[in-house]
Amino acid sequence: MDTFTATQHRMHDLDARIRARPDRFRVLTGERPTGRLHLGHYFGTIAERVALQGRGVETFLVLADYQVITDRDTAGDVASNVHEAVLDYLAAGLDPAATTVFTHSSVPALNQLLLPFLSLVTEAELHRNPTVKAELQASGRTLSGLMLTYPVHQAADILFCKGNLVPVGKDNLPHVEMTRTIARRFNDRFGEVFPEPEPLVTTSPEVPGVDGRKMSKSYGNAIALGMTEDETAAVVRRARTDSDRHITFDPERRPGIAALLTTAALCTGTTPEELADEIGSAGAAAVKRVAVEAVNERFAAHRRRRAELARDPSVVAEVLAAGNRRANEIAEMTLDEVRSRMGMRYTDQPITPRGD
Ligand code: TRP
Repeated sequence: MDTFTATQHRMHDLDARIRARPDRFRVLTGERPTGRLHLGHYFGTIAERVALQGRGVETFLVLADYQVITDRDTAGDVASNVHEAVLDYLAAGLDPAATTVFTHSSVPALNQLLLPFLSLVTEAELHRNPTVKAELQASGRTLSGLMLTYPVHQAADILFCKGNLVPVGKDNLPHVEMTRTIARRFNDRFGEVFPEPEPLVTTSPEVPGVDGRKMSKSYGNAIALGMTEDETAAVVRRARTDSDRHITFDPERRPGIAALLTTAALCTGTTPEELADEIGSAGAAAVKRVAVEAVNERFAAHRRRRAELARDPSVVAEVLAAGNRRANEIAEMTLDEVRSRMGMRYTDQPITPRGD
């Protein structure tokens, strides 16, 4: 069995276990607030999170603000990126009563887990992480201490709440593997505290940007969830197509056309091949028109809800305040447990004074 088929089988089995006992799972996942959320995020993970929530799985979402500065000097517009991301979560259907949304920098006890966790990994293991290597290359910078160690920080994100299910894209699999190693080693040395979390790899295909490369804000090929209809049309117009009027789905030779067909198909629930057949010999302009309509229709309700929510800034502020409060309570309990297991308990009182 090849790796792809093996992953598919494992995901099928995991899906059945989640369906049977949603109460046994706690999801922790998240993203770096480096820009606006786009269709790649939506079809890659957000839709899946909403589905998990619908099945009754408790979910934690980290807006990984400290992870923003792994590959750049400053956090940029991080506050506005966080605000906009929460709007998209809410508009997509995440219910703040069931999903805890928080930011790294607001949860000190989570960050402190990094210290014992760093003692559980070797420098060689850190240097071996293929995703860190690729991101370092893409950043064109020299390796910072944070870039090298952020997968351990990500383990703290996951383990602070004893998350045991981590929806991620393929590129984050090495980080989940490192988290499993850290959980195992901590438990071996200090006694059973942490679960060994399982990755949940999204089954929807990677969303291409309008140029055929992976959709990414830094490539300028992304359709943001919060764009207007006209902004959407403007991005699609930039897609590089060709003059062969007979439309085929050929990602190798016609990446621009293929990307638009894939995007439209995801939005309408068909396949890119079917759409190509339907468009027939109507040319690239027709493909663009179909793609713009598909995206604008699919996200019309999302954008309407988003605009309504955006009218009252206190909505987002309250979601974050409640999420950060809950994340802090849980992180402090876990940190107390960790310190106790390590023998770092000096009074009978909990080490961290808790508010009410
Ligand atoms: N590294 C993830 C990304 O770039 C974001 C992230 C941070 C994350 N902490 C996490 C994902 C914990 C899953 C679990 O997309």
